Amino acid sequence: MPSLNDIRSTFLDYFRRNDHRVVASSPLVPRNDPTLMFTNSGMVQFKNCFTGVEKRDYVRATTAQKCVRAGGKHNDLDNVGYTARHHTFFEMLGNFSFGDYFKKEAIPFAWELITKDFGIDPKRLMTTVYHTDDEAFGIWKKVGVPEERIIRIDTDDNFWRMGPTGPCGPCTEIFYDHGDHIWGGPPGSAEADGDRFIEIWNLVFMQYEQFEDGTLRELEMQSIDTGMGLERIGALLQGKHDNYDTDLMRSLIEASAHGTSTDPDGPGKVHHRVIADHLRSTSFLIADGVMPSNEGRGYVLRRIMRRAMRHAHLLGAQEPLMHRLVPALVRQMGAAYPELVRAEALIGETLKLEETRFKQTLDRGLRLLDEELARLGEGQPLPGAAAFRLYDTYGFPLDLTQDALREKGRTVDVAGFDHAMQEQRAKARAAWAGSGETKDAAIWFDLAERHGATEFLGYDTEAAEGQIVALVAEGAEIGAAATGAKVQIVVNQTPFYAEAGGQVGDTGLIRTDTGMATVTDTKKSQGVFIHIAEVTEGEIARGQPAKLEVNHARRTAIRANHSATHLLHEALRRALGDHVAQRGSLNAEDRLRFDFSHSKAMTPGELATVSAEVNDFIRQNSAVETRIMTPDDARALGAQALFGEKYGDEVRVVSMGRLAGSAKGADGATYSLELCGGTHVARTGDIGAFVCLGDSASAAGVRRIEALTGQAALDHLNALGGRLAEIAAALKAQPAEVVERVRALIDDRKTLQNEVAQLRRDLAMGGGAKGGAEAKDIAGVKFLAQTVAGVSGKDLPALVDELKARVGSGVVLVVADTGGKAAVAAGVTADLTDRLSAVSIVKAAAEALGGKGGGGRPDMAQAGGADVSKSEEAVRAAEAVIGGTA
Ligand code: ALA
Repeated sequence: MPSLNDIRSTFLDYFRRNDHRVVASSPLVPRNDPTLMFTNSGMVQFKNCFTGVEKRDYVRATTAQKCVRAGGKHNDLDNVGYTARHHTFFEMLGNFSFGDYFKKEAIPFAWELITKDFGIDPKRLMTTVYHTDDEAFGIWKKVGVPEERIIRIDTDDNFWRMGPTGPCGPCTEIFYDHGDHIWGGPPGSAEADGDRFIEIWNLVFMQYEQFEDGTLRELEMQSIDTGMGLERIGALLQGKHDNYDTDLMRSLIEASAHGTSTDPDGPGKVHHRVIADHLRSTSFLIADGVMPSNEGRGYVLRRIMRRAMRHAHLLGAQEPLMHRLVPALVRQMGAAYPELVRAEALIGETLKLEETRFKQTLDRGLRLLDEELARLGEGQPLPGAAAFRLYDTYGFPLDLTQDALREKGRTVDVAGFDHAMQEQRAKARAAWAGSGETKDAAIWFDLAERHGATEFLGYDTEAAEGQIVALVAEGAEIGAAATGAKVQIVVNQTPFYAEAGGQVGDTGLIRTDTGMATVTDTKKSQGVFIHIAEVTEGEIARGQPAKLEVNHARRTAIRANHSATHLLHEALRRALGDHVAQRGSLNAEDRLRFDFSHSKAMTPGELATVSAEVNDFIRQNSAVETRIMTPDDARALGAQALFGEKYGDEVRVVSMGRLAGSAKGADGATYSLELCGGTHVARTGDIGAFVCLGDSASAAGVRRIEALTGQAALDHLNALGGRLAEIAAALKAQPAEVVERVRALIDDRKTLQNEVAQLRRDLAMGGGAKGGAEAKDIAGVKFLAQTVAGVSGKDLPALVDELKARVGSGVVLVVADTGGKAAVAAGVTADLTDRLSAVSIVKAAAEALGGKGGGGRPDMAQAGGADVSKSEEAVRAAEAVIGGTA
């Protein structure tokens, strides 16, 4: 009996043999369709190939595509568990032709695969065609299907559309007859709803494009899109009627039974089926980057998770269950979907976190629900207010409450629930309006209320499609904006990062069918992402689908800087101590800046150690991981909480760098763990290189490091290298000798300067140490006065000392000509300072020179004068002080 894994391989191999490219499944979050919540069929990733907008290097493809139908247009959530063929997650096998082959080839391809490779008895097969499609009818006849088993259908069942707009066309479906022991009639009959005839494959002949106004346009090329649910064909080939009896689903059901010590086929059967299905959808969604939240895709994920948890609770599970089933799923599907293996830890932790938190309110909420029900009369629906209280206080999504009531044959007053929700919104708005926030924010609050928060896709992609939900100019909404207009663009989903946590906002382009806008910055308010832009081509309008492209080179540089900041933070903490805490940061495209608490300048040695460590972890090139957990768990792991920030129930934890055999908290192997919402490199090696530009003071007790990474770091080093080579060449030295050489030059210069000063003094005093003026005797004190030129004021003390040494005991006076003005210094030898003060002498001399003041010590004093031609008078004034005649 072939396993589902075998069947998937047989399908892909068959089309590979027939010249189809085997293309990997696209992510569950569609990048190329803003109107679609989740990828719900194989053709989604090829949507633009059918219309000819996108060209690939192949014209035939085959895929096993992961699909989710929960939330949005196709929503099977409510029926899961209770029916044989509803899933929130399933795999669609498909083959595709883009303008290559058409009906004549597609039908025989399908027929051969199912009757030969799969070996299905042709007598049990039946097909349908669109009522006007004689061609398809004829081809079926030709491959051997008897006319009475080709049924013409005139409804939309045989005209496939991906949505209200987009490629579409008539289709033909293949049905399998499970036998007359099951009730039901062939397609098109009154009993078609029964379970006897099951559709197994849908072949769509893509030949039209549907437009919003309802018109159909014939496409230039005719294409093929087919879809076969793996679970259905699997059930058939394994001789089962129920998809949940296939090997893959069965192994998950058994894991659920084992985990709850219950019987897989006992009274808890429905619960096991729900758990098996929801385990697949939640795990694959998390692997594709969806995280539980209260909005959009994240809320659909949360609803599925919580629904599964209630069923686990009904099975009597006391402890979180779902996360323990992840290994069973990875065993089954990890080989076909490696993303599941890569995300296994993240999936397990995310499920466990949600289960742990929800458990706290699940019991209480269910009790409340029972009390409410006890009050109700026979058949009465649960009042909307009660359902809302369960939602608001206990975290019960509406469909969880509905699911719980379904078992009791009851419903919810949905209109009442919606009303209660509206009322709460109105209250929130009133409270917000009273909180004194600026009026400018009102428009974003309005938009958030009307359209919900913007979905951020930028952790996983830099390009995506979105729908323009609003254009804002000068604080007011506008319908369209033409070339030259400055406008703020709001889109339902975006890959653009909005400035936060020190990381700058993204720039890039937004294109629509009619124009283009250049985004110069992205910010956010009330969860609404605001693309600050200028229309640079044509016109863009509200409601248009748009292609959003982040400036890749810039984002790459920003990412490298942000990740390097995390490594730097940890390296600083290790080098300087645990007191190092982040006080601010900037992660821009051209550099990074990191402010941290530390009271003294870093030594060159510390800087070198930190730089070397950051670069070591860059070269380690280990994977950067992101996980979601409670703030307490994150702290327990040793995550560096940002200073002064408040956190909600969940935090995003970014870890990078591996430590060999060292213990640090519970997560001994991780180097850096930080709470962070920013975008990061995939592997540390992507940072390229790290160069520290130095450390400076930013505020009291706060140091600032600026640094470069990647190309900017290399450019900086190369420029430095170039300068060094120039300097070395000028010094006629090797670069390695430059420092020695410069030191030697500085020493030489000092020596020369001293020599020059000495020579100047000698010269000033008459051409030699022994020459110069003679000392006279003033009242028994030797007095030596000299007028000099070519020496500066600061050389005078040395000159005075020299003259003092020459007189042995006495007073000296030096008047220097400083270009018309004068500098004067007096000295008194130590044996005379009790009688005479150099200060009084210099003051008298300075006065004679037209100056004022003067100062110093009794043995040495200096002053300035306005007029050096009065030097004779200055000498006489000094003599008068010495002689006591002043
Ligand atoms: N796109 C087609 C479907 O989903 C094949 O049924």
